[in-house]
Parts: sequence; C-alpha cells; structure tokens
Amino acid sequence: GSAASPPRTLDAASPPTASQEDLKRVAAHRAVAMVGSNMTLGLGTGSTAAHALDRLGDLLRSGALRGVAGVPTSLKTEAHAARAGIPMLALADAAEIHLSIDGADEVDPDLNLVKGRGGSLLREKMIEGAGARFVVIVDESKLVPRLGCTGAVPVEVVPFGSAYTLGLVRKVFDGVPGFSARLRTVVSKAGDGKEELFVTDNGNHIVEMFFDDGILGDLRAISDSLLRITGVVEHGMFLGMATSVIVAKKDGTVAVLT
Ligand code: 5RP
Repeated sequence: GSAASPPRTLDAASPPTASQEDLKRVAAHRAVAMVGSNMTLGLGTGSTAAHALDRLGDLLRSGALRGVAGVPTSLKTEAHAARAGIPMLALADAAEIHLSIDGADEVDPDLNLVKGRGGSLLREKMIEGAGARFVVIVDESKLVPRLGCTGAVPVEVVPFGSAYTLGLVRKVFDGVPGFSARLRTVVSKAGDGKEELFVTDNGNHIVEMFFDDGILGDLRAISDSLLRITGVVEHGMFLGMATSVIVAKKDGTVAVLT
C-alpha cells in the first residue's frame, strides 16, 4: 500500500473477521467431505451451515456428487439451498436421513449443544434427531465448559400466553443465582424503531434463558422440567444428539470430537 492509504481499523460493530469465517468454512467443507452420492441430508441453519450449503451446491454442479437431497431446517436454509441448486425433500417424504450437518452456538465437553440462537431449534431438533448421524461444525470459539456460558439458551413457546409461559420457565430456576429469562424481541420491520416479539418459522415465540456462569444443574432433569410445561414446544439444549463435532481451530488444525 501507498503511504496515503488509511490504516485499517476494526471496531466492535464489525462483522466476524475473515479468519473466523474461514474457520467456519473449513469445518463445513470437512463435513461435506463425508457426504456421498444418493444421500439424504439434514441441512442446518446459520452462518457455518451456510458454507456447507454452498459447498454442496458446488459439488452437485460439478457432478462430483449426484442424487443428493436435503431436508432444510429453516425457511432461510430452504431459500439458500434452492439458490445453491440442492434438491429438497419434506421431512415426511425422506425415507431416511443419512447425515445432518449443522452449526451450534455452544458445545460442551460431552458434546451437548446449545442451538437456536438463530431461532431454528425446533426444526433442527426434529430433523437432526431423525437422522442416523448428526455432524456439528464449529470454530473453536463455540467450545464451552458448560452450556449457557456465552449467551441465551432458547426455549420455543406457543404464542398464546407466552408471557405466562415465561413465568413458568422462571419457576423451574427459582432460587438459581444469576438466572434470568425474557421473551426474545426484534426491531419491528415497520421501521418505527419499536421492538416486537420474535416469531419463529413455526409462528411461535422464544424465551431466552440466561445463566451467569452456565447451567450447573443436571441437564436431563432441566430438559424434562422444561418439556413438561404446557406451552413449551421445545428447547435449544441438544443433549446426546451430536455424533461428532468438527472443530476448526485458529492454529489451522481441525479436531473431530466423538
Ligand atoms: C440456528 C442455530 C445455528 O446452528 C447456531 O445459531 C450457530 O450459528 P452460526 O453458525 O451462525 O454461529 O442453531 O438456530
């Protein structure tokens, strides 16, 4: 560069750095290398899964893969897969899902996950739970000592009485220090700057649970308590579901955790 070029600066509002995006792509491509012709795939949602969709599209276009079909885990993924030229099937029409590939918000040492900060946890859990293998693709920033360490653990609730259901979710964690919960909001598309409740692809709302230091209790027991609440549809803790986790690291190596 010339002496006149201004220094490049990054501020807190910058999008993810290229290198983190590169790590997501590396993990995604490694997972897509596991795909064979004539497989039916669960197609994940999010910025990491998006790299897998692009790669699948490229391999189908070049003829390196044939006969692959995907079951999309969100409307956004459905649109992306259509653009990438990936044939799609409805969940009910997939005789078998051989492999699902998706990102995660958090991965704990037992390969339990938090998913759904993108709001797609219900379809993800249905599709990824239906398949034989579920490969998770992450950069190393997603590895945590305990679920709930880095942000919200989402719970999908029916819109009817969602503020009441929020109260029932809070009761599950009564007396837990550092716990809080709220309904997810987004800035209104009307352009008036107002906040409105987030609505999932299924027309539901999301309760976000926050834990100061992550979830310290028995995850299975907490899962059961949440699922027993009438009004809760599903939560974003994916316990014992991942068959492997592909982790792309900053030092350039890739680890496959099983
Ligand atoms: C969406 C998800 C995503 O897999 C999760 O949010 C990770 O997204 P990204 O790859 O963009 O970090 O669960 O509901």
